[in-house]
Amino acid sequence: MAVTLIINGQSTEANAALSLFDQAEAMGIDVPTSCRKQGKCKECMVEVVEGLDALTPMTEAERHLKGNFRLSCQTFVTGSRGQTSPGIVRCHTMRRGHMVIERQAYGLPADGQALALDPAVTRDGDRILIDGVEVERSTGPIHGIAMDLGTTTVVVRLLDLESGELIADTSFENPQRFGGSEIMSRIAYDTSHPGRLLMRTLAGYLSHAIEKFPVDPKTIYEMVVVGNSTMRDLFFRQNVYSIGQTPYRSITEIEMAEGKRTTTSLQESGLRSLLPIHPKARVYGAPIISGHVGADAAACMLAADLAHEERLIAIMDIGTNTELVVGNKDRILAASCPAGPAFEGGAIACGMPALDGAVEDVVIDENGQFRIRVIGDVQPEGICGSGLVDLLSELLRTGRMNERGRFEDDLHRIDLAQGANGGVYLLESDVNELAQAKGANVAGLHVVFSTYGIDFDDIGVFYLAGGFGRHLKVESSLRIGLVPSLAPERFVRAGNLAIEGATIALLSKTKRQELEELVKRVEHCRLETHPNFFDFFVEGCQFKTVEPIPCAR
Ligand code: FES
Repeated sequence: MAVTLIINGQSTEANAALSLFDQAEAMGIDVPTSCRKQGKCKECMVEVVEGLDALTPMTEAERHLKGNFRLSCQTFVTGSRGQTSPGIVRCHTMRRGHMVIERQAYGLPADGQALALDPAVTRDGDRILIDGVEVERSTGPIHGIAMDLGTTTVVVRLLDLESGELIADTSFENPQRFGGSEIMSRIAYDTSHPGRLLMRTLAGYLSHAIEKFPVDPKTIYEMVVVGNSTMRDLFFRQNVYSIGQTPYRSITEIEMAEGKRTTTSLQESGLRSLLPIHPKARVYGAPIISGHVGADAAACMLAADLAHEERLIAIMDIGTNTELVVGNKDRILAASCPAGPAFEGGAIACGMPALDGAVEDVVIDENGQFRIRVIGDVQPEGICGSGLVDLLSELLRTGRMNERGRFEDDLHRIDLAQGANGGVYLLESDVNELAQAKGANVAGLHVVFSTYGIDFDDIGVFYLAGGFGRHLKVESSLRIGLVPSLAPERFVRAGNLAIEGATIALLSKTKRQELEELVKRVEHCRLETHPNFFDFFVEGCQFKTVEPIPCAR
């Protein structure tokens, strides 16, 4: 019986004699590879979302993969056992072009002002130097890379280090997803699979991205990497086991506490990085604040110019692990809030990432009908984080859900849209997941603000960082209590502050030094040890505006 093969949304009749890789290639789909289909590079991964049982069994080369991931060069379509009707195999490569990945930052204090160029890589005649030490003789250009290495997405910028000009940028889904979608499962995977498979897979993808840039990769002499502590440490081949165990510390923090190093930043050569950049290039991993407040949060502080900020500001990056930084040039507090994946669509029946088909905007009109906007203007397949926030807010506004997250119609399910696979809907159990994610964020806000001794109203600017923050509606977020009760104009949906901070650190060694010093001044609040944490969490699980608690000044 014929099987339809759908790869990255393109369909064809499956050919049992050809691997998924060959069939993708025949459709003009670019599958990453460095081993020419030998089963060695592990880059040709696909995620199979339908029809897993219609594929040949896993091979030895795929032993490292879990769940529904396969190596496309090793996998053939056979048809389902006992199949009597036409089957479907639906899969996608790890580079999904339609994924909404935020590459820019917005609303920063330095917007429009040129950064004083002061890179670590300089030229003296035909000598190219890093911190004054010659690494090459060439009259060619000098380039650098800034990278924000996230658990889900990777953003890379290529810059001319002599002019500061952005030459190109790119982004892709982090291919390490085969080791789990969130940090703790990546740590468990890395600990149980020797050979640095996660790092090597990422290096393969990154190498392809760098080779596609319009410059000779050997003219790249420096790279600045920011990311959460686990992603950064995996990239630098550090043991990440300790980040997954209480008290959740990176090996670099432990070594610093033991006096073995003076900074949590990391460095290695281009050669050791496995990337096609200059072998003597320096790869610099920006310092982290703690095991769960990483170099990405540190880079956000640099982008927001916290070292010179007179006003009290807050930076919140809502995600599986929400990072919160509050302070000004005199004092800075930071915390991480274990929110879980609910607001990224994880653990939600119809949840999905911000891809084509995701409901991203919801309004209930005067007739009680849902008005939705779907990414890509296609049939709705699920609902992403910003859509969930809107939906909760609208249900609350119209009285169809109460503050405790209970639906008023006794059905325990609200249908949002018709569509494939039973349509798009929200369950009361989904709301519980979202309530707990919100509870963790609110607890983080209360712990940090009460420790600082300030009220929400003392905050001059509240930056919502990250792709999720960029697409949130402030009004909806205020109504459900995802963000503190502040005048809407004080919120800045700032987008990718982390890549901006990485870029600043690449272009200016003065700023990089400022970052090193800034990080050492941050006071890290451990939420779980705060005496009121549980009360704050329970309060925060309710869907209502988050008012300040009386603070002790
Ligand atoms: S192409 Fe290298 S493992 Fe499949």
